Amino acid sequence: MIFYFSGTGNCRYAAEKLAHGLSVEAIDMTEAIRHRAYEYDCTREPVGFVLPTYYWGLPIQVAGFLSRLVCRFGKKPYVFLLLTCGQSTGDAGRMFARLMKERNLPFSATFAVKMVDNYVPLFSVPPKEKAEEILEAADVALDEVLAQVMRRQMGDFNTLKGKAPKLITGTIYPFYRYRRRTRHFAVSDDCIGCGRCQRECPAKTIIMAEGKPVWKKPQCILCLHCLHVCPVHAISYGKRSIKHGQYFNPNV
Ligand SMILES: Cc1cc2nc3c(=O)[nH]c(=O)nc-3n(C[C@H](O)[C@H](O)[C@H](O)COP(=O)(O)O)c2cc1C
Repeated sequence: MIFYFSGTGNCRYAAEKLAHGLSVEAIDMTEAIRHRAYEYDCTREPVGFVLPTYYWGLPIQVAGFLSRLVCRFGKKPYVFLLLTCGQSTGDAGRMFARLMKERNLPFSATFAVKMVDNYVPLFSVPPKEKAEEILEAADVALDEVLAQVMRRQMGDFNTLKGKAPKLITGTIYPFYRYRRRTRHFAVSDDCIGCGRCQRECPAKTIIMAEGKPVWKKPQCILCLHCLHVCPVHAISYGKRSIKHGQYFNPNV
């Protein structure tokens, strides 16, 4: 069983690829939370978590999901984490390990793969050819992760932590809380009122009012799904995102 969270398809792609290779099911954490589905028979192994790196840490709802998760494991469970990132993961792996320990859940190995960076408040989405290049390299890296998981390799195989991971996560992750404020989102007059952002928001934060999205909760996950899937690119976050393009993994 592979649990994943994905805003723009990278983790979904990686989770589905691994699930296929390992002949296990891929479970969308957002759907699981929505349906309050927290109990799983994990005797069919391995068990994996595929998560994006956010502010050199983990998306906010991961801790809540893990705190409710009830898994029935086999005798010698093998549980791995795969982080996807645009540049580096910092100490996100250790953050995850700590959460697993708190919950008395088994944890065996950490991996990380670089994919296209979707953080448009700061960075531009790379041109199509460059994005394809990154995703091709990610595919090779995912094959290697698959092979290591099949061999049940134990340990920390994350080579993408970057410099001073502990320091960078300790310094930067606290800002995630502030950046999750939905007042940073705006919608332009280009909005056609299709409601896709509202229907697909994993945090169910958006409502439609007079044909336009309104972020009704003060904070969200900041997955940026709404911004990236808007068919007319009418949603922005902060001043710069609009110049930085839109991205969704083309392989899902
Ligand atoms: C709120 C937010 C914060 C992010 N922070 C980081 C980061 O600290 N380091 C990094 O390398 N990439 C960061 N990214 C990029 C994502 O981790 C990366 O694009 C990931 O593959 C997205 O996965 P998804 O398509 O499944 O949502 C961030 C993205 C978002 C939306």
